[in-house]
Amino acid sequence: MAYTPPPRDPKAAPVRINLLSDTQTRPTPAMREAMARAEVGDEQIGDDPTVNLLCERVADLLGKEAAVFMPSGTMCNVAATLVHCRSGDEILAHETAHLIAREGGAHAALGGFQITPLAGADGQFAAETLRKALHPRTRYQPPQTLVSVEQTANIGGGTIWKKAALDEVAQIAKAAGLATHMDGARLLNATVATGIAAHDMTQGWDSAWIDFSKGLGAPIGGVLAGSAAFIDEVWRWKQRLGGSMRQAGICAAACIHALDHHVDRLADDHANARALARGLSQINGITVQEPETNLVFFTPDGAGIPADKMVAELHKRGVLIAVMDGRIRACTHLDVTTAMIEEMIGHVREIVRTA
Ligand SMILES: Cc1ncc(COP(=O)(O)O)c(C=O)c1O
Repeated sequence: MAYTPPPRDPKAAPVRINLLSDTQTRPTPAMREAMARAEVGDEQIGDDPTVNLLCERVADLLGKEAAVFMPSGTMCNVAATLVHCRSGDEILAHETAHLIAREGGAHAALGGFQITPLAGADGQFAAETLRKALHPRTRYQPPQTLVSVEQTANIGGGTIWKKAALDEVAQIAKAAGLATHMDGARLLNATVATGIAAHDMTQGWDSAWIDFSKGLGAPIGGVLAGSAAFIDEVWRWKQRLGGSMRQAGICAAACIHALDHHVDRLADDHANARALARGLSQINGITVQEPETNLVFFTPDGAGIPADKMVAELHKRGVLIAVMDGRIRACTHLDVTTAMIEEMIGHVREIVRTA
């Protein structure tokens, strides 16, 4: 059976406003220059100075002993669970977690793990929900070895786990002998929005990573951090998964550039997300979830327009956007301007008016 094609009808208008994902950013000229200037070596043998510098900086940022550069965030999640768990183990994560629904079944296929989906509003589960899902070690139940959270929670609406909630969940997990993992694909969005340092958010979490190919604007890469012993084991899986690289400093230089120039500006993406939500919520029949960061989820059901139809109409007008788990998700990022947000609101208003 063929896989679903990309979300855009190729006959639709050229894309002028790309709200599909924060992965859609293109490297800026300054980032490309930094990449061209990068000092490089053989990453696989630890010999690439730019990769090494990036890993030191992310380990420091996340308050961990060591870190490793990975080709993608998905590989960060996969290598982490492969180190934390053994075949037959149980992982607990929110029911909308990326590692359940969007990693090609990697955790089952490669690790033989089962993931228990925890319910909860906005992509987050309550400490009490975790407590109730825990069971004692018995002969007939799968060993529970890992709790994972997403900061921010993507499908939950880009929502931010409160520090107190993170601390409580980590404490419950630890008390039950479980390891803790934070999928920090958009962790820096959370730190910029709250002013809480990344290392404070990751305190109590054995492993955590950040993605550079999202709002930070780099072409590829995630960096996974943890204890030195954990990262040593991650390296074995990185090699097994075919993720060891060579002159990867070219890409690491883009990530370092992003750390230096693209973190504080995430606040602009959040402001654009708020402006988009405000504008959309003023249109009759559009229901919008109030954004906490750079993701805006909305539904046009109240206007009698199915989400798919709204998306197709927007594609015709040069806006690339998609339906995600029943709602339309708009992502603001480096390549989305305030003028584009205003134009997008105008398109939605017009589509509703002429429906
Ligand atoms: C919460 C979350 N985790 C993990 C990933 C995977 O990251 P990558 O696309 O770099 O593999 C994504 C990507 O969208 C994500 O949103």
